[in-house]
Amino acid sequence: MENSDLNDKQKRRLIVALDVSTADEALEAVTGLRGEVGAFKVGLQLFTSEGASLVKRLAGSGSNIFLDVKYHDIPNTVAGAAREAARMGVWMFNVHASGGSEMMKAAIGSASEVCERESLRMPKIVAVTVLTSSSQQTLDETGIGRTVEERVLQLSELTAKCGLHGVVASPFEARMIRDSIRVPGFEIVTPGIRPSNATHDDQRRVMTPAQAANAGSDYLVVGRPIMGANDRVEAARQIVKEMTEAAGPTDLR
Ligand code: C5P
Repeated sequence: MENSDLNDKQKRRLIVALDVSTADEALEAVTGLRGEVGAFKVGLQLFTSEGASLVKRLAGSGSNIFLDVKYHDIPNTVAGAAREAARMGVWMFNVHASGGSEMMKAAIGSASEVCERESLRMPKIVAVTVLTSSSQQTLDETGIGRTVEERVLQLSELTAKCGLHGVVASPFEARMIRDSIRVPGFEIVTPGIRPSNATHDDQRRVMTPAQAANAGSDYLVVGRPIMGANDRVEAARQIVKEMTEAAGPTDLR
């Protein structure tokens, strides 16, 4: 594979977290980074401040948008939210796998149905397994009598069984998920990425882009190392370079 093709392929795997509070800041970042990365993630902060109108505007302008608001509610309510997420034109959105199979099936069922009926693009729907901020203590105090790894695997298997497109997990769990879930095309999205020269901020367990790519992550979510950089384009290119070097010329992912 040509180097430039490989570079483009790695770019498509990079998702930038737009963790800002205003539409102006988000639009500035998207304008600067469009063409350098594969997608932009709108999380709870930006969604709470600017809402669906910004998401529609960003998606409508041709960027891939990952709506990261982690739906977790009764199946009927999640079905309704999933339908509206599809109508907003997002490329990916997520639910909590701990909401259970009925809820996850309701999400994928209603999104598929509205996409079919209204000729929309079907978003990827991924499920959060165990938040990277959760520890064994978090699981114990909330009554989950399993280790973090057991719980991640249990929820990943359930997610795959429900027909969702993948999971959000720590890069430290990516290899285990990749080896156990043998569903073709099942994707792993990993935050907690820090380039080799960056500070860790408040992320405890981090991997470099190269390590995460090698561990089996399909998409790498990066926030502060890009959004907080003096030169965001340069920061994004550096990450893509690290991923490309890890992939090597024969990578066919
Ligand atoms: O700035 P940083 O690269 O740490 O941002 C990571 C992004 O991924 C943030 O938007 C954060 O909310 C999100 N995230 C995470 N850990 C998870 C799920 C989402 O860090 N388990």
